[in-house]
Amino acid sequence: MRHPGVLLLLVALVLATIPLLAAAWRPWPPTAARNATAPGASALGASKKFEGSSELVKLQYHMGPVLSGTITVHPIWYGAWPAAQKRTIRAFLRSLSPSPAEAARIPPPTVSAWWRTVRLYTDQTAANVSAAVALGREKSDARMSRGARLSRLDIQAVVRDAVAARTRPLPADSGAAYLVLTAPDVAVQDFCGQACGFHYFTFPSVVGYTLPYAWVGNSARRCPEVCAYPFAVPAYVPSRRPQAPPNGDVGVDGMVSVIAHELAELASNPLANAWYAGSDPSFPTEIADLCEGIYGTGGGGAYTGQLLTDARSGASYNVNGAGGRKFLVQWVWDPVLSYCSGPNALDHQ
Ligand SMILES: *[C@@H]1O[C@H](CO)[C@@H](O)[C@H](O)[C@H]1NC(C)=O
Ligand SMILES: *[C@@H]1O[C@H](CO)[C@@H](O)[C@H](O)[C@H]1NC(C)=O
Repeated sequence: MRHPGVLLLLVALVLATIPLLAAAWRPWPPTAARNATAPGASALGASKKFEGSSELVKLQYHMGPVLSGTITVHPIWYGAWPAAQKRTIRAFLRSLSPSPAEAARIPPPTVSAWWRTVRLYTDQTAANVSAAVALGREKSDARMSRGARLSRLDIQAVVRDAVAARTRPLPADSGAAYLVLTAPDVAVQDFCGQACGFHYFTFPSVVGYTLPYAWVGNSARRCPEVCAYPFAVPAYVPSRRPQAPPNGDVGVDGMVSVIAHELAELASNPLANAWYAGSDPSFPTEIADLCEGIYGTGGGGAYTGQLLTDARSGASYNVNGAGGRKFLVQWVWDPVLSYCSGPNALDHQ
């Protein structure tokens, strides 16, 4: 016997378990869109201009809102997080929209210039994605109160624990976005196999609010060659040596690019009804998915593209951030140029 209430609940539960995955960073052509025989494709993979050719990519706007007000990112540290690792991730988040005084100290190419591409996305009210991304309050769950194995839906429970905490709960106002960061020993459904991170929105039935959130895992122990590429390289890509990570931490430096990926998509597609390609909103291709593995001019396939090298440490990076930090972040799709773009591009700005 059909019961529409039960059916609706089931649909809601099924949808809740299909967050938007970032199956990113695999050092092989991630989408069918690549065509190694196309003009401009190198032996290592398609160039960004091919990757970005507008005939192949049908990014569409689906009438929903983008995040146009100040986006306050609240990190939730799940599992054991050493202070040095937290500092690196906080520095990245603070680099997205630094104070004018701080911004004056950061040489180009900058993290905030990288975010400018995300700001090109607008919604039907003609509002752009916000320039203001703030580091909000934080919550720690070092003892892993939901266990060391989490389903996708459990991530919402972790958010719920943080906003419903008896002491210093995280705010749940408009503009809040939650970033659940799991330590290396935490297993998350589809981690490494299909996803390095995902974003979605919380359900009133679980969290009490409808607010955007993302999860990103530290892959250091499980699959750095998948989720922290190019700081770790799979055995089947011979002749390619891992790049040195700019903050000296393979897992965390790899996470920074996944965090960037998720925040770009969370801002441009917060309720899964704004900007994505493909006809199925449950499995959309979003603005960062289109540029997976591309960090510089010429990137594609297993080739990262042209990177910068830190003269002191030999580390690879492509953007500068707050506190003298350097980071490597993947490019995102530029809706005006109709190809993948980043502030370190050598042939366009
Ligand atoms: C790949 O590109 C070449 C050259 O532009 C074209 O002839 C060929 O049809 C393309 N193949 C696919 C599968 O799109
Ligand atoms: C807002 O988006 C439009 C359309 O992409 C773009 O032309 C404009 O420059 C954007 N504004 C800002 C401040 O980024």
